[in-house]
Amino acid sequence: MERQQRLRIAIQKSGRLTDHSLDLLARCGLKYSRGKDQLMCYGENMPLDVLFVRDDDIPDLVQEDVCDLGLVGLNVIEEKRLAMAARGAQARFELIQRLDFGRCRLAIAVPDDFPYRDLSSLAGRRIATTYPHVLARFLRENSIEAEIVTLSGAVEIAPRLGRADVICDLVSTGSTLLANHLREVTTVLQSEAALIRTPVPLPDEKADWVRRLLVRIDGVQQVKESKYIMLHAPRSALPQIAKLLPGSESPTVIPLDGHGDKVAVHAVCRENVFWETLEALKAAGASALLVLPVEKMLP
Ligand code: PRP
Ligand code: ZN
Repeated sequence: MERQQRLRIAIQKSGRLTDHSLDLLARCGLKYSRGKDQLMCYGENMPLDVLFVRDDDIPDLVQEDVCDLGLVGLNVIEEKRLAMAARGAQARFELIQRLDFGRCRLAIAVPDDFPYRDLSSLAGRRIATTYPHVLARFLRENSIEAEIVTLSGAVEIAPRLGRADVICDLVSTGSTLLANHLREVTTVLQSEAALIRTPVPLPDEKADWVRRLLVRIDGVQQVKESKYIMLHAPRSALPQIAKLLPGSESPTVIPLDGHGDKVAVHAVCRENVFWETLEALKAAGASALLVLPVEKMLP
């Protein structure tokens, strides 16, 4: 099939979002083969191809319609939006869905021995970042005058190199800060991964695949925490048991032949089922408890 009929999605080549992005696409049913150092891979069972690029390039690739879709952090999206606004232009990619991974924050961090009290301690200081527009907005909103030192990477070593006094960078686990003797002092922006799309209208067949993909993504997000729970219980204990099942809709109740008053209860729980819940269910009269992962869900 030609490019006309195949969807193209841009994802981060190597970084925090890469594995999760590929995992999401695989859970949506995509089979692909990825060669080493390959820039693009072709979907084998869906008309969907994956392009591996630097995350900062994803908004442009999508708004210039080189790719139909992009999976990228809100941090990159917001910086792009503000950078374009500063030039009097408007971002043309469309945000279609926030995703349940890649959570992190853009934060200001200072060297361990930096005398930080509150935001005013940043006044007159040099702040190194790869997010100059988001940082500028934050400083403006807080009436802080500081110098922004725009770097293209390795922000965490800027203070040691004497290029800046403090930094403003993404923090996810915090291990990068720790390794560089930096201490987080305030959050500038909360971020997670999101799906963006081209501003150009898609031909019917492609639009249809985008819709299907969104339904599948929704299903993937729903089953993440969901569990299928099965147990036996005396019918009289049902009201109590129904109350204990975390986030479930009305459970299925099946009579058990030759067990008198006993029934089997099956339910989908939309939240994780912990040992404490199982113990409480047992105390309420349940037995033969079984908790299974849910693989797919389509309401
Ligand atoms: C970010 C950031 C830090 C790291 C922080 O990089 O620049 O290096 O993640 O994560 P941690 O708190 O878990 O140590 P990212 O993966 O976004 O790559 P990029 O900035 O090169 O695009
Ligand atoms: Zn990046």
